[in-house]
This record gives sequence, structure tokens and C-alpha cells, in this order.
Amino acid sequence: MKKITLLIKNAKQLLTLSSDKKGPRRGKEMEDLGLIEDGAVAVSGKKVVAVGKTKDVLSRIEVDKKTKIIKAENKVVLPGFVDCHTHPVFGATREEEFELRIKGKSYEEIAQAGGGIRSSVRSVRQLSREELVKLALPRLNRFLSYGTTTIEAKSGYGLSLKDEIKILEVIKKLNQINPLDLVPTFLGAHEIPDEYRERREEYIDLLVKQMIPEVAKRKLAYFCDVFCEKNVFTIEESRKILETAKNYGLKPKLHADQLTPSGGAELAAEIKAISADHLEFVSDSGIDRMKESGTIAVLLPGSVFGLGKDNYPPARKMIERGLPVALATDFNPGSSFTESMPIILSLACLRMKLTPAEAITSATINSAYAIDKGDSAGSLEPGKKADIVIWNVKNYKELPYHYGVNLVDKIIKNGEIIR
Ligand code: NIG
Ligand code: FE
Repeated sequence: MKKITLLIKNAKQLLTLSSDKKGPRRGKEMEDLGLIEDGAVAVSGKKVVAVGKTKDVLSRIEVDKKTKIIKAENKVVLPGFVDCHTHPVFGATREEEFELRIKGKSYEEIAQAGGGIRSSVRSVRQLSREELVKLALPRLNRFLSYGTTTIEAKSGYGLSLKDEIKILEVIKKLNQINPLDLVPTFLGAHEIPDEYRERREEYIDLLVKQMIPEVAKRKLAYFCDVFCEKNVFTIEESRKILETAKNYGLKPKLHADQLTPSGGAELAAEIKAISADHLEFVSDSGIDRMKESGTIAVLLPGSVFGLGKDNYPPARKMIERGLPVALATDFNPGSSFTESMPIILSLACLRMKLTPAEAITSATINSAYAIDKGDSAGSLEPGKKADIVIWNVKNYKELPYHYGVNLVDKIIKNGEIIR
């Protein structure tokens, strides 16, 4: 038997999210949290080695003087949240746009007038790697403090070869110097930058001929994403960019059907994207096509809320039709300025009618699969990373119910108690 370095025992509810079946959960499976009452998790080094009822786990392991023991009586224990869609590396914040929207301007109007993503690009281009790292660290700290242990992290505020590489190198650095895991995504196709507004074909050329090959060569990203949207990238452009990315070994993702219906979900299915994200305006055929192609629906209710809108994506319909759903913050300075997954759970339950169990499945195991980390994160099972969060609640349903406050008790990352 391996040496037990950490034992969490007597949890009121231990949610393992484990299953005999691999792959994201869909339909009724999303209600199954693998809940164990009076549960225990035994950890050896960075990995989970045993999970079960406290008395069963205790009978299978040996603890010694060095084993750290946490009594989680009256607490709920969960795998750390996986936030599968974030934009954490940027410079200036955009609270002026927030106020403009309150006064009636739309996100699209602000973008067309040169604000939005392009204003973040102007800010990032002026900052060094070191400055960007320094700005991002407190954000990562906030993700962790709200119970997230893995995030996907997109570039997309550089939009030149040099500045996109700079952001991806910042993400790499952040991964090395902080406990949170970051999975990098190249999002050079986030917007057409100022200097290419009148010659967009040349920007697409730059993306497919220089940026994607260079990012792939330097192994700086695992995924490639495109903001497929009216006035941003068309379906044809998105297809070309993502097909090129695939040829270079980057797995495709897509910002799809966020602000207008554009056939983004159908495109994501056609190119077998791992996920299509947003989907506020997804069509019924888009849902069915995604289901057939195994593309996960990543829903981002924080960006609907953050833009002051009400058009949440049709999550119930997706679940009822058997499409796997994941949840993420979409943390970014424009549409969704929050690092908190718990508030996303509340929005998912209250505005998209997910049950608390479905929301937790979406924010853990399904979110892990949406970034190809289903084998190492998102559930508590022997062999998986010991990324564990202990919550100051007696029932998991309190997480979305008691909104806007931080209910985290302890955070364990890679087997270490860090909070
Ligand atoms: O996911 N939709 C595109 N990207 C972000 C917004 C980025 C920004 O406004 O800076 C989103 O909502
Ligand atoms: Fe986004």
C-alpha cells in the first residue's frame, strides 16, 4: 500500500463524480454525483488513492504519524472546479464599457466603435511579459480561492505574432509559478486588429501562414479557438482557421452563436471541435449535430449576466436531447468579469434551470472533458489528481443556493493543503 500523505474523513457528503463510463455525462447521468455520506478520500503525494465510506477507506489504508488528517464533519467535499473557458491575461479593465452598457449601448456597438476586444489589445501590446504576469497572478489567486483548481486560458488580446506569443508565454510562466493548472488555447482569431480592418484577408493569412505554425512549433497551445460571430469571423474564415490549426495538431474550439445565430454550432460539429462555447442562439439542428459529433456544449451564463442580458442558452433542451453540457466563467474584462465558479452555478440553476447536481457535474467532470482533462481532473477517483475542495456547507445544494459569498473551507491542490 502506498504511503498516505493526506486523509480527509467523515465528510457529510463526498461527491466523487466518478463513473464506470468514460466521457462527459449526458442526460440523466448528469444527476449522478457519486455521492457518499460519511465519505473519505486518501491521498498519496499528488494523487488520490482511495475513495469511499470512511470506515471502508480506513480499513484499506494505513496512516502514520506523518499523515495529515482532516475531519470534514458537516462539510461537503468536491473535486476542484474546472473552469474550461477563460481569458485571464489582459491589461486594463473595462469598467467604462460596463457603465456605457448600463446606459444603453450594446456590446457590439462598443466593439464597432473601436472599444471592446480591440481596446484590450491596445493595452496588452504596451505591456511586457513581466507586467502581464504580475497583473494575472491575483486573478489566478481568486480562481483558486473560489474553489477552481484548473482553468483553460486563452490568448487573444495580442493579435500580432509577437503579442500572441507573448501572452502564451505568460500563460506558460503562470503555470510554472502558481498552483492553479492552466491549459493554453491560441485565440489569435478573437477580433480583426485595428491595422487590418481594411484588409481582413491578410489577417486570416497571417493567422494560417505564420501564427498557427509558430504557436504549434513552440508548443505554446493545446487548443485553437475562433470568435465566430457577425462582424468578427465568418463561418468560412473560422473553418479555414480551425482546419489549419487541426493540421498543426491544435484541437479546435469555437465561440459559437453568442450574439447572433450564425451556424457556429453546426460548424463546430462539422470540424469535430472538442467544444462549442456560448451557444445563446444555437439552433435545434446545431444541438443535434453537436451531439452526433461528440462536441461538448460549454455554457457561459456569466457573460449573459455580465452583459446585462437575458438570453441564456437553452440548457434544458440540450440536456434533454442528450448533449453533454459544461459550465465556465468566461472570465474576461469585457463580457464576464468574475473568477467565481459558484456564482456561475447559481446562474446556471436560476436562469438556465439546471438542477444543483447537473450544475456541479457541468462544472467538474464535464468541464474537464471539455479541455481534454477527463482522465486527470474533474472527479475524485484513484489515480486522479488530488485537487480537492472542502466546502463549509452540509448539503451540496447550498452551493448555488447561498449565492455571492465564498463558502470554501479548504483547498487541496496536487495533494497539498494550500488554503
Ligand atoms: O467570450 N466573445 C468573445 N470573447 C469574449 C469577450 C472578450 C472581450 O470582450 O474582451 C467572450 O465573451
Ligand atoms: Fe470567451
